[in-house]
Order: sequence, then C-alpha cells, then structure tokens
Amino acid sequence: MSQPCVNIGMVGHVDHGKTTLVSALSGVWTDTHSEEMKRGISIRLGYADTTFRKCPNCPEPQCYTVEKTCPVCGEPSEELRTVSFVDAPGHETLMATMLSGAAIMDGAILVIAANETCPQPQTKEHLMALNIIGIENIVIVQNKIDLVPKEKVIEHYHQIKEFVKGTVAEGAPIVPISAQQNINVDALIMTMEEKIPTPVHKIDKPPHMLIARSFDINKPGTPIKKITGGVIGGTLTEGMLHPGDELEVKPGRKVESDGMTRWEPIVTKVSMIVAGKENVEEATPGGLLAVGTTLDPSLTKSDSLTGQVAGIPGTLPPTRDDLKLELHLLERVVGVSDEEVIGPIKTSEPLMLNVGTATTVGVVTSARKDIAEVKLKRPVCAEGDSMVAISRRVGSRWRLIGVGVIKD
Ligand code: GTP
Repeated sequence: MSQPCVNIGMVGHVDHGKTTLVSALSGVWTDTHSEEMKRGISIRLGYADTTFRKCPNCPEPQCYTVEKTCPVCGEPSEELRTVSFVDAPGHETLMATMLSGAAIMDGAILVIAANETCPQPQTKEHLMALNIIGIENIVIVQNKIDLVPKEKVIEHYHQIKEFVKGTVAEGAPIVPISAQQNINVDALIMTMEEKIPTPVHKIDKPPHMLIARSFDINKPGTPIKKITGGVIGGTLTEGMLHPGDELEVKPGRKVESDGMTRWEPIVTKVSMIVAGKENVEEATPGGLLAVGTTLDPSLTKSDSLTGQVAGIPGTLPPTRDDLKLELHLLERVVGVSDEEVIGPIKTSEPLMLNVGTATTVGVVTSARKDIAEVKLKRPVCAEGDSMVAISRRVGSRWRLIGVGVIKD
C-alpha cells in the first residue's frame, strides 16, 4: 500500500453508520476498544487506510473499487491513491473527540441515515463544526437506504438539501448508499475522488505533526530488553519525517517541583515510521502515521500525548498557558432540541477549547465584546492566528458556541 496522502473524516450522528462505512471501504472495523464493542458506539478516534482503485475496462461508477481485482470483470484494477479515514464518534458527549479529529481532516463525509428525519442533533453539530473549522470538501452520504422505500429516500434527500442550505455543505454531492449491504459504494469512491482532492503540502518546511493518539504497544509482562518505545499517531501538516530524526514533543510532560507545576518539552528520536501499513523511510504530509520513538512507553500509553505537537527541536510554536482570542460566536446553540440564543462570554466562566488536536479547559479572565482572555488548566502548543473551537457548558454538556483566533 502506498503512503496515504489525504485524511478524510467520517462525521455524523450516533449510529448513522460511520464505522460500518469505514469498514466497507477499508476492511477495518475501527471500534476496537473493549468499551466500544460493548456499547456499540465509537468512543475514541478510529483510523484506517485504504487504497482507491479503478478498473481500466469497466464504465463509471462500477470501475471504482478498493479491490485489487475488479469485482465486475475480474481484471486487475489500477491504483489511484491511498487515503486515511478518521472515524469520529457521533455521541453527543464525545464532541471534544470529534473536534480534535476535525483538526486533522482535509475533507469529510457527513453520514446521514435515511431512516431518521434530517437533521438529527449531532448531524447539525458536526456540520457546524466543519463549518467553523473551515472544512470545505464535503461529500454527504445518505446511508441505510436498504431500510426505507424509494419515495422516503427521495423525501429524505429533500430534507438534507434544505438542511445544508447556507452552510459549507450547500451544493455538496449527496450519495445514497447502504454501507452494510455495500450498495453504491463505488459511486461514493468516485465522488470522493472528484470532491476531496489531495491537498498541496509544504514539504520544504520543518516537520509539524499533530498528535491524535498515543500508545504503549507492549504486552504486559514484556521483558525490559524487548520493550518497544512509545508510539505516537497523527498527521504531518507540513514537512517530512525520517527514522533517526530528533523529535521534540510540546507541551511535553508535567513536572511538579516546589509546589509549582510546569510543562517540559520531551525530546526523543524517531525509531520507525509506519504509513499505509508499511514501514517507510520518509513520511510526507497528509494521511495518518504511526511514529515509533525511543520514549519510555509509560509516557505515551492510553493517549496521554493526544493533543500535543511534535517536530524538530526548536522549530515548534510556543507553549501557551493563556490564550487571547478574537471571538466569532454563533447565534444559537446547536446539537440540542432547544436551540437557545448564545449570550456573550463572561469573566470567570469555564470554556472548553479545541486547539489542533488538543482539548483543554480554561477560565475566562477578561471578556470584552470580541476578545476574551482565557487561563488554561492544561497548556497548548499553538501558533498565533490558529483557530480554536469554543464550547460552553449548557445544562450538563459542553456545546460548541463559536470559534476564536489566537492573538499574540
Ligand atoms: P458511532 O460511531 O457510535 O457514532 O456510530 P456509527 O455512526 O459509527 O454507526 P455504526 O457504523 O456503528 O452503525 C450503527 C448500526 O447501524 C450498526 O448496527 C450497523 O450494522 C447499522 N448500519 C450501518 N450501516 C447500515 C446500512 O447501510 N444499512 C443497515 N440496515 N444498517 C446499517
């Protein structure tokens, strides 16, 4: 498999079929966490790579496949490109995870089940997140068409059209499919090829990696001599990475001494890189990577480095304990049945902020009409002018209320 070159997000309401669709396209079931299996919902970000292929003999859309042999005529198919899917959870309590996934998406598939009226709350909230983060390359999938008669599918299609009016998804193609029965998946691949192009990446810059997951891949009881270093997973937004490169991870680790807490960058070395299921000697931006390091795996276990940034020492943006944000708030809260008006941000109120793949909570120390200053509980490493998704507590949940731009 070649290296993936683009990240495609799977977003949408809980149970609408995101994980099933990733599996239909890649053969990988991304819900592997035991809690996910038990509850039947995705909890963490899932990811899977697949290669889109085309049969040189068959007509469109039947020629599009992920199989090496064309399922229609049996001839060998030709490789188009390898993509990484980022499978976001659809449950309303997991919006922070969805937002950290959205930070690494180059385009997205909005999955909407045809057997429920549109929009469902998180269909709306996820689309709003794509809108706010500025993900413009969107394909809408109308899933589960095997469960409803044709007239209902058409009626539902009109509901979708109406719902996306005035949003970033207005005019996005709508592909009716059944992920479970593998119906029209070829047409969906064709549409992704047309609508979600591979971004042009800056490879001449120093590498900048957003960390989405981190792992300890050793089995319990592994003898010390055989222990493999910590693994980080994520995407390069620019630059290239090679085994042997020195790597700095920021904000790094929390150090407490003399009653003070500070964050110290971690320095390590790249021991290996896996992209597109293979070990590679050079990783380029786009697509998801797993980077083996020489770190003590206790530093990377259970996603403990999620939200951090990695790059060549000395080249990363500053670690920030406070953020000054230029505010762009929405008019109403989305994702709930009662869409109340969003009032101004107030001093002392807690906010949840998503900066790149990081999720952090902060308290507002100063608020004016368009600017708020927030003291963070956990610092973030981010460039000035980066976008921050802002959520506020409404009832018992964090709700997306707008976006901020970091000002120095
Ligand atoms: P979360 O990640 O938890 O938000 O859910 P999800 O959107 O990933 O949904 P998932 O893929 O887990 O599917 C939910 C249920 O719908 C499962 O029982 C699937 O088998 C079923 N399902 C998915 N796609 C289809 C489809 O096209 N037709 C039918 N009949 N069922 C489907």
